[in-house]
Amino acid sequence: MLRIAIDGPAGSGKSTVAKKISKILNLTYVDTGAMYRSCAWVSARLEINGNPLVDKLKDVDIQLKNDSVCIIINGELFDITEEIRTPEITKLTGEIASDPSIRKILLEKQKIIAQSTPVVMDGRDIGTVVIPDAEVKIFLTANPEERAKRRYEEMVAKGINTKFEDVYNEILDRDFKDSSRDLAPLKKAEDSVEIDTTSLSIDEVVTKIIDIVKAKGY
Ligand code: DC
Repeated sequence: MLRIAIDGPAGSGKSTVAKKISKILNLTYVDTGAMYRSCAWVSARLEINGNPLVDKLKDVDIQLKNDSVCIIINGELFDITEEIRTPEITKLTGEIASDPSIRKILLEKQKIIAQSTPVVMDGRDIGTVVIPDAEVKIFLTANPEERAKRRYEEMVAKGINTKFEDVYNEILDRDFKDSSRDLAPLKKAEDSVEIDTTSLSIDEVVTKIIDIVKAKGY
């Protein structure tokens, strides 16, 4: 069964590339960042009445479908696709992602999906922790200026008013938090193929990964 793990820092192009690959190879796409973002949304938006967030998360069903992210809590559905991308939730996600009890819950969910379904899964710890025996492991990088430029242009296209400098600093801050946390930090798995996407188009990156998949006989 083909399981592709794609890791890398914020803005390296993981989700755009992973979505395209999922369509070409007919694999389920799992955006694990969206799962962490959903937990941050629950923590910021729902009454948890002083109880630990993990208790609330036991009742939460996270549904990742195509381009939408929904959660169901006690039968009530919330479409949180847009809201989980706000700067406020992005910042909170960085903090929540370093909480071992939250990582444990999401890790279990991610492992279950990857056991039964051919997937392309993206995140920070997919090749190292979630699917250490993935058939194909990719580590995407790009220099911070280029990653900030991509994020900035994406935000401007969505009509979000922001300054390049703020986006750049946010990328550096996330790089630091993602790579320096104790548990499941952003790290290239020894057996993953590193692709520097700084001067590559999305389609060029997709083609490189498809070639790697084909070379493995899939
Ligand atoms: O990929 P993203 O920007 O949507 O990720 C949001 C945050 O979640 C980011 O701060 C890193 C964290 N994350 C993580 O710790 N482990 C993952 N597998 C995926 C994301």
